[in-house]
Amino acid sequence: MGFSANFEVVKHVLSFSGWHRSDFLSVERNAFSRYIIIPILRDLRKIVIAIDGPAASGKSTTARLVAEHLGYLHIDTGAMYRAVTLRVLEEAIPLEDIGAIGALAEKTRIHLERAETGNRVFIDERDVTREIRTEAVTRNVSLVSSYQRVRDVLVREQRRMAGTGGVVLEGRDIGTVVLPNADLKIFMIAGVAQRVERRKKELAINGIDIESEKLEREILERDRLDTTRKASPLRRAAGAVEVDTSSLTIDQQVQFVVGMAKEIIGE
Ligand code: CDP
Repeated sequence: MGFSANFEVVKHVLSFSGWHRSDFLSVERNAFSRYIIIPILRDLRKIVIAIDGPAASGKSTTARLVAEHLGYLHIDTGAMYRAVTLRVLEEAIPLEDIGAIGALAEKTRIHLERAETGNRVFIDERDVTREIRTEAVTRNVSLVSSYQRVRDVLVREQRRMAGTGGVVLEGRDIGTVVLPNADLKIFMIAGVAQRVERRKKELAINGIDIESEKLEREILERDRLDTTRKASPLRRAAGAVEVDTSSLTIDQQVQFVVGMAKEIIGE
């Protein structure tokens, strides 16, 4: 068996023992014919931060501001699931047609761009930042994102975007599935009343007025679907720090995460 074949075998074995493929550059044999692992030299100031949590728990605002503080990239993975859902609705694909939805996810080119007001979301060249927040998308996104094939496509893309660090990813499965080796994992929660209140304000800024009772039903239903689905359910990841933002100000929750990140970076 040639060296490259051996390398593939060793990489395969390593990935089963908790190593992520992007953690090592190569596996070589030393003078004593033992395999040694050559890790990728990462910039130690550029760590990977994973923020997970239920709907409207404060993830997006926190992730965006933490990224700004550290000069990192902010990746809102929920926006990516919303973008696929928007395309499913536009193409009028039946929501139970898993095959067609998976194929659509594969050919949908989503990209996120940093702007003054946070990320802008594009499908191909089209700016869909506002459209992905409509009620119709919100109502259907949990079902579309419960399909394994959709997740496989987006998770592959998210890992590629995370590169070798300097990123804050937020979603439902970042610490459990996408990047289980993240340097800092946060599980963000908040009481239902606070979450409803925050979402109501957020929507009002965009000129949308929804009754609190309706919002609460929508948030609780999405929580139920996201925590009970088979594929990558929302869970607190092993090693994640739980942050209850119910009585924290935005500034407090941002400072908390930035403080933990700086401790890890050694600043
Ligand atoms: O911002 P909000 O809390 O409303 O949710 P979001 O982050 O925009 O995510 C919308 C939906 O996408 C969630 O309710 C999940 O169903 C799904 N999602 C997911 O399955 N996995 C992720 N990593 C992120 C979002």
